[in-house]
Amino acid sequence: MADIFDTYDLSGLLLKNRVVMAPMTRARAPGYLPNAEMVRYYGQRAGAGLIVTEGTPISREGNGFVDCPGIWSDEQVAGWSEVTHRVHDLGGSIFTQIWHVGRMSHVSLQVGEEPPVSSTAQQAAHSSAFGYDQDGQAGFVKASKPRALATAEIDRVIGDFAQAAVNADSAGFDGVEIHGANGYLVEQFINGAVNDRTDRYGGDTVENRTRFALEVVDACIERIGASRVGIRLSPFGRLHDLEAFDGEEETFLHLARELGKRGIAYIHLMEQASRGAPAMPDGFLARFRQAYPGTLILAGGLSKEKANALIEEGVIDLAAFGAPYVANPDLVERFRKDWPTEEPDKDRFYGGDARGYTDYRPYTGQRVAESA
Ligand SMILES: Cc1cc2nc3c(=O)[nH]c(=O)nc-3n(C[C@H](O)[C@H](O)[C@H](O)COP(=O)(O)O)c2cc1C
Repeated sequence: MADIFDTYDLSGLLLKNRVVMAPMTRARAPGYLPNAEMVRYYGQRAGAGLIVTEGTPISREGNGFVDCPGIWSDEQVAGWSEVTHRVHDLGGSIFTQIWHVGRMSHVSLQVGEEPPVSSTAQQAAHSSAFGYDQDGQAGFVKASKPRALATAEIDRVIGDFAQAAVNADSAGFDGVEIHGANGYLVEQFINGAVNDRTDRYGGDTVENRTRFALEVVDACIERIGASRVGIRLSPFGRLHDLEAFDGEEETFLHLARELGKRGIAYIHLMEQASRGAPAMPDGFLARFRQAYPGTLILAGGLSKEKANALIEEGVIDLAAFGAPYVANPDLVERFRKDWPTEEPDKDRFYGGDARGYTDYRPYTGQRVAESA
């Protein structure tokens, strides 16, 4: 019986188990620079078969969060190298999630207080970025009204993704995960309710709305190879002011087929029900699986039992855990030994110091069965 403790061949990269640490923004990198505390944090979690780092902006323009570590400068690459060395020394594998937030940003985070860029000029009026308020205090602020990218500019943004992949390679990452989920730039193109463009990146056709995502994927493949490129998608995603649109299922199945042809490392699906949005429709995961022959990762509200059942049924290959990894650095060991898991302190998810970040300890107590 296959389960989360089995090894897995991820396009030639041998993972020691099938547990993935899901990407999680922790916003503890002043100056956008990866630092020693982050080296400690990721090292503590190197027991995962695969770590996907927090969302890592590909440019200042692509950033929507105070103190997120970027991957556009040499200094950032040097900082990330320390992280990848630590994780590799401990026998782990690590991809970085390359991220452009698009309209989910705030003028206070942009160079010259310029508006953020997007597929559209429609504001995500009900969503927040994490920027600076009028008094210069960091905190949640309403996402600013964006400017729609001109067609001629789109190549430049795709180039920023490709450069981020090259930088990730220089920093020693095993690969990159393109952030195509959760209402950020890539999904602002995919989603037919947000994308109101009339050029070849917009309109009613599935091909046009998925063009940006696929061109980003192709540009990264060209620079670092298909086996080192993954993508995260959130089909039927509603986070950050996304709404339903005609042909939604077909859009994601089209992406599944196109990504399958490219032989990328994986698709990582995020089920948003665990983050307060509606679940994917019944049967969709199985239909997606049929359309995509490659490695499939699922995140969102998984338990050990649920993950094992889905792997055993052959619906997914790898199981990703987000919030459980915040408070349980030794999550795989806890699963393996049936030890209890801790609940994270949600007030310390974003920003701050070592508290609620690197001060969660591995389990040292008795087995549940013995202590009961
Ligand atoms: C503190 C926190 C930060 C997150 N940041 C990101 C992120 O940077 N990129 C991303 O794709 N998802 C992010 N997520 C979503 C997680 O990757 C994961 O998909 C989600 O938490 C559902 O999994 P879970 O139920 O195991 O927590 C974040 C989640 C949490 C709790």
